[in-house]
Amino acid sequence: MTAPILVTGGSGTLGRRVVSDLRAGGHDVRVLSRRSHASEEGLVYVTGDLLTGEGVDATVAGIDTIIHCAGSFKGDVKMTETLVRAASRVGAPHIVFISVVGTDRVPVVGFGRLPFAYFRNKQGAEQVIAKSGLPWTTLRATQFHDLFLIVARGLTKLPLTPVFAGFRFQPVDVDEVAARLVELALGEPAGYVADLGGPRVYRMVDLIKSYLRVAHRRRVLVPIWIGGKTARVIRAGGNLVATPPDPAGTGSRKTWEAFLTERLGQRYTASA
Ligand SMILES: NC(=O)c1ccc[n+]([C@@H]2O[C@H](COP(=O)([O-])OP(=O)(O)OC[C@H]3O[C@@H](n4cnc5c(N)ncnc54)[C@H](OP(=O)(O)O)[C@@H]3O)[C@@H](O)[C@H]2O)c1
Repeated sequence: MTAPILVTGGSGTLGRRVVSDLRAGGHDVRVLSRRSHASEEGLVYVTGDLLTGEGVDATVAGIDTIIHCAGSFKGDVKMTETLVRAASRVGAPHIVFISVVGTDRVPVVGFGRLPFAYFRNKQGAEQVIAKSGLPWTTLRATQFHDLFLIVARGLTKLPLTPVFAGFRFQPVDVDEVAARLVELALGEPAGYVADLGGPRVYRMVDLIKSYLRVAHRRRVLVPIWIGGKTARVIRAGGNLVATPPDPAGTGSRKTWEAFLTERLGQRYTASA
């Protein structure tokens, strides 16, 4: 009998897709979650917490492969340390980690409490994995469409919608990230693999404009200039995939406009 594949964060936006891809491929899956969920044949939920360590030893027992999708704004390093320690006690499972494009380029100075701290936490977690002594693979992806939809909805609640001047993003579809993680988990440990980003780079203002168009809403967009080294590197594209997506296969295909059309049930028309 083959061991199940453990998915941390298997209840989250990305992890849910990873779990469903693994199940579709006939793999048994174990999911770590802080909440209890109904298990079913081939899919077992174990309750545990990577911040406190509760339930983690039981979760990793008998596991050969871990897809580590659990993440939280502040807890990435600690959660990853807990996982790595527990995994090392039971053997040498292959850990496949999802990180963020730019952790190696965006300087992690300043803006301590703003979203840029995200890069610092992810960079720390990457290092925990790389130094763990366990076999590992790390995929860095750009921001998911789902995240930008939350951002766009949140920002456009305000009558004047702030947009960061000069910031560009390359949103990627979460299904494509999940598929790549599964592919990596079924392969040999590979260390850092090629970054995965969406098929197009957009100015932040254009991401919001497209959302407003599809959602049939109107807002006044107000460019906000952010100073400092971190923002400068982002304006220079430090958060983007350095080479264009691979047209042969691993590169992403779904655009922001296609995602919006699918999610909001309206057609994106550039001229509307
Ligand atoms: N969103 C993006 O645009 C993006 C881009 C690149 C990389 N990533 C990375 O991809 C990963 C998944 O992102 P996502 O958007 O799917 O996140 P998400 O929807 O917020 O899900 C986070 C998951 O982490 C689990 N989790 C949080 N704290 C935990 C803890 N203390 N112990 C155990 N599990 C915990 C949650 O499980 P329970 O609540 O069930 O416990 C949940 O399943 C994250 O590491 C994120 O940094 C995200």
